[in-house]
Amino acid sequence: MNKSIILLFSLLLVTCAENISDSGCPVRPIFKPFDLQKYLGRWYELARYDIYFEKGCDCGYADYTLNDDGSVHVKNCCKRLPNTTPSCTIGKAVISYPNASPIEGKISVAFRGLEPKESNYWILDTDYDNFVIVYFCQMDDTQKPRDAFWLLGRAKELTAEIQEKADDYIERYFNRTAIYTPKQKSDSCGAE
Ligand SMILES: *[C@@H]1O[C@H](CO)[C@@H](O)[C@H](O)[C@H]1NC(C)=O
Ligand SMILES: *[C@@H]1O[C@H](CO)[C@@H](O)[C@H](O)[C@H]1NC(C)=O
Repeated sequence: MNKSIILLFSLLLVTCAENISDSGCPVRPIFKPFDLQKYLGRWYELARYDIYFEKGCDCGYADYTLNDDGSVHVKNCCKRLPNTTPSCTIGKAVISYPNASPIEGKISVAFRGLEPKESNYWILDTDYDNFVIVYFCQMDDTQKPRDAFWLLGRAKELTAEIQEKADDYIERYFNRTAIYTPKQKSDSCGAE
C-alpha cells in the first residue's frame, strides 16, 4: 500500500471511532485510565448547569453502587427547599467502552427503567477521593447538543486547593455564568 492509502485508512478508523463516542457533542478531554470501583459511593453536588430536570434542586447527592450484573445503580437525589424530603431518580449506568484500553471515563446512563445506550456521561477529571468533573451531553430532537456540567465532591465543600483546580477546569471548558451553586452546606439541607 502506498502512503496516501494508509493515511486514508487511518483517517477512516479515526472517524469511525469518534462517531460512536461523541454523537455530535463537543469533544472534551476524557479522564483515563478510569477505575469504576474507586468511583462508586456518595458524591455531593457542588455546582452544575441549571438544567431543566434539576430546576429548584438543592442539597443534591448521587449514590453509585454496583448491581449484580456489574452495571451501576444510580440514585440521584435533591431537595426542593423548604421541603426537606429528598426527591430521587433511579438510573442505571455502564462503562461505555469496556474493551477500550485504557478504560476511559465514558459512561452511559439512563433513567426510569431505560437501558443505557448512549455514551452521555463523561468524566473529565477526578481524584476519586475529593472531586469529579462531569460533562453530560445528548443530542435533542433537533440534533442540537444539550449539555450539562456537574462538579461533585465527596464532601459538601472542597478544600481551597481542589476548588482552585475545579475553577481552572470550569474556566477552560465551561460557561461560568450558566453555573448554579446549589445550597449544600446550609442547615436547611439536613444531615443527609
Ligand atoms: C461517521 O460519521 C460520518 C459523518 O457523519 C458518516 O459518513 C459515517 O457513516 C459514520 N460512520 C459510522 C461508523 O457510523
Ligand atoms: C453562558 O451562559 C449564559 C447564561 O445561561 C448565557 O446567557 C450565555 O449565552 C452563555 N454563553 C455562551 C458562550 O454560551
